[in-house]
Parts: sequence; structure tokens; C-alpha cells
Amino acid sequence: MPERYGIMLGSGSADFNASAMPLTVGTAYGPPSAPLYEHDIGGQCVLALARHGDRHTIPPHAINYRANIAALGSRGVTAIVALNTVGVISAVLEPGQIGLPDQLIDYTWGRAHTFFGGGKEFAHAEFTEPFAGPLRERLLRAAVKAGVTCFDGGVYAVTQGPRLETAAEIDRLERDGADYVGMTAMPEAALAAELGIDYACLALVVNRAAGRSDRPIHDDVEIHSAAAIALAMRVVERLFSE
Ligand code: HPA
Repeated sequence: MPERYGIMLGSGSADFNASAMPLTVGTAYGPPSAPLYEHDIGGQCVLALARHGDRHTIPPHAINYRANIAALGSRGVTAIVALNTVGVISAVLEPGQIGLPDQLIDYTWGRAHTFFGGGKEFAHAEFTEPFAGPLRERLLRAAVKAGVTCFDGGVYAVTQGPRLETAAEIDRLERDGADYVGMTAMPEAALAAELGIDYACLALVVNRAAGRSDRPIHDDVEIHSAAAIALAMRVVERLFSE
């Protein structure tokens, strides 16, 4: 069966939706962060959703992740490409580049993180590999075809936010084995797993993590965001055109 793609847009990438058709969708968990937008890319319909809202008003801890994933699932999405801006901890990547993490560690708390509960029979979703291998492979191949360098692998530490980390917190994440730090891949990835939707994260490196640069983090973000977003867009447009 052909894949029906969804794309979860993050900070700085919501403009992707500017000229698309909005589709208002309700869910049992309330409204998603924004309408879904239908894109016709290479003859396929791709559904896009801006997780922080169309005007970037919903911070990471306040996102209704369940509504967002349920909304995409209810429209038949079988594979989600998530764009997540991150800071880089290890030296494997530079700001302005992109990577495809293959593992995560969840440091978030207090977020509605499961569809189970409320008297329904529950299951324990497998999460050994939090990012779908075949979808990652397709993204890596799309990157090659698009002429974009995309780092293969790495561990994404998901922090609570919305504040950035302290230098000591980043040291701890590094000792834990993390390469990237961001605030939004969880519970998104786990909720997709509960619904049986493939999920891969394209990490857009927009800064060096706290304590890893002489420059203020926001300066890094301002300088490097556009380059990382442009690379990610080239990869997803290539993927969706196949
Ligand atoms: N930390 C957490 N989340 C982020 C960062 C960071 O340095 N950069 C972009 N999202």
C-alpha cells in the first residue's frame, strides 16, 4: 500500500503551509495545534501540521501532542516526518546542518503522553527503535538524491523547556550519550508508535547546546536556522516526490 505522508512542522518551518489548503480536524483529545494543510507534492497528497501553531504561539510543554498525532492518524497518515529544531551537543554536527537521530532519551515530564488509560484495554507499545528504520532509510536516500548532507544517527535528548538548558544539564546529557537536544520529539514519537504510524525525526541543528559555544544561543539560532530549514525542505520535497 502506498505511504500517506504527514509532516510535523516545527519552529521556523510553518511557512511551508502558507499557500496550502487548510483542513480543520477535531479529535477526541481536542483540537490540534493548527489546521492540517493539504499539499500536492509530485502528485501525492501530504498533510502538514505546525506543532507550535500557525503563529508559533504554543510552547513545547503546552502542545496537545495527542490531538496532533490523532488528527494526522484520523486522515489516514501512515508515516510522519517530523522536523525538530535542536541544539547540538557532540561534535558530529555543526549548526546549520541536519541529522537523522536513531535513538532518543526522554527527560520530559507532565505531558499527556499516551492514548491508553481511561478504562480502555491497554498495550505496551514497542519503542526499542523510536524512529522507523525504513522511513529513515528513505529520508537518507532522498537526502543523497537532493545533494544534501544529512548525518545518519545520534541520540536526541528531549527536554521539557521552554527554557533552554544549563551548561551542567548539557554535560549530564552528554554523559548520558546524547548528541542532540530538543524539546518536541516526545511524546510525539511514542504517540505515533501507539497508533502504528511510522515516525522519523529530521533534526535541524540551529545552535550549539548551552555551554558549548562562546556565542549566546539565540545568536546561533538566528544565524543558522534558515540554512538548516532549507536543507530539510530539500530532503522532504525529494522524499514526497518519489
Ligand atoms: N535546547 C533545547 N531545545 C532546542 C535547542 C537547545 O539548545 N535548540 C533548539 N531547540
